Amino acid sequence: MIWLPDGWAKAVIGGSLMAALVLLPAATEAPAESAPLPFYGEHQPGIVTPPPGFVYFVAYDLTTLKKTEVQALLKSWTVAAAQLMAGKPVGDATDNRLLPPADTGEAEGLSAAHVTITVGAGPSLFDKRFGLEARRPPALADLPAFADDQLRAEWCGGDLGVQVCADDQQVAFHAMRNLTRLARGVAVLRWTQAGFVAKTAVDPRNETPRNLQGFKDGTDNPNPNDTALMNQVVWAQSTDGPRWMVGGSYLVVRKIQIRVEAWDRDGLKDQENVIGRQKNSGAPLGGLAETDFLGTALTKKTADGQPVIPDDAHVRLARGDGSVKILRRGYSFANGLDFKTGQLDAGLLFLAFQKDPRYQFVVIQKRLAGNDALNEYIQHVGSAVFAVFPGTQVGGYLGKTLLD
Ligand code: HEM
Repeated sequence: MIWLPDGWAKAVIGGSLMAALVLLPAATEAPAESAPLPFYGEHQPGIVTPPPGFVYFVAYDLTTLKKTEVQALLKSWTVAAAQLMAGKPVGDATDNRLLPPADTGEAEGLSAAHVTITVGAGPSLFDKRFGLEARRPPALADLPAFADDQLRAEWCGGDLGVQVCADDQQVAFHAMRNLTRLARGVAVLRWTQAGFVAKTAVDPRNETPRNLQGFKDGTDNPNPNDTALMNQVVWAQSTDGPRWMVGGSYLVVRKIQIRVEAWDRDGLKDQENVIGRQKNSGAPLGGLAETDFLGTALTKKTADGQPVIPDDAHVRLARGDGSVKILRRGYSFANGLDFKTGQLDAGLLFLAFQKDPRYQFVVIQKRLAGNDALNEYIQHVGSAVFAVFPGTQVGGYLGKTLLD
């Protein structure tokens, strides 16, 4: 799956991608690459908008016990997010040289770089502190423990979760830093993980980006430009739970280390059997093209009656019968050296949006945990789930439907 900006996506509907790209210059004007994304709207940005090259995922713990201070924080984040997404500094400039500047300054003169800010509430926000127990959506259930989990408390949970994405790491850092600064006295950082994904600027073929195992990752994602499909898969509807979540979504975050050294010693044939797709083309094993329908490929047998795509291949187990879908928006991470093992601390910051993790992420992860051939090379070390607020309008604020 290749994510395209809105204008491009419309040109693609009804035709092949290649045909659309060839026709594009004559048929429609390409959107300005640097145009900031809109912050206000029915849904928050950063979910079905194309993933920029960098992410900071940040989990915060509230230190206040006052609901009014949580409201004030979300109001100030809303104003700041609108400013940041427009490529402007946060706060008002002041002439008082004795005060710290309102904005930290490192994005001065830089474009908005498609920065998006996406905010959600973790299950712990609905404990006794703020009187919100009765408002907790059933879909915001704690994730169950899965076989093979090696979760570390320091990379789990959070009262609030914020996903900051941008095409430039400095712009992304600036946004997350200033949001953190605005939280002072009300919330503190609990854990954070940065990530990256190769962008078309370095990929002249504009292909599905590859993860750190060298495989195309995101091929079989549901199309984020298909609004009807997104209403089925991603956006909470009025029939799905509390009214305050209509137009929102649920984010599952998993920090998954990849034992890259072990993976790099594995033969190509085995690597492809582990995933169930060809490494170079991304085609299902036994197929020719990345876009070949996986459901058909899964039924193919070798001459001696064995499945061409092994029973424990990642894509076979992840797909199941194809009825359960999530919108994956993962980023790779590389945190340097793990001094305990002397190996690279690298992997996948798995970020997936859906309307109800109980019937989506959890169902898929139960199939993978303990069974997936990939488990030999990965370990889930961090985990969190958030109710991502619906979008907001000018004058409103993120979380208003929950807190007002
Ligand atoms: C480090 C961990 C993981 C790696 C390296 C990985 C890699 C991949 C790759 C290469 C593909 C094939 C291309 C594609 O369709 O995107 C894929 C497909 C998929 N993965 Fe993963 N994945 C990981 C973890 C997970 C987890 C935790 C889940 C959800 C619980 C998941 C769900 C899926 C789904 C739903 C598909 C599409 C299956 C289909 O074709 O219908 N993956 N993954």
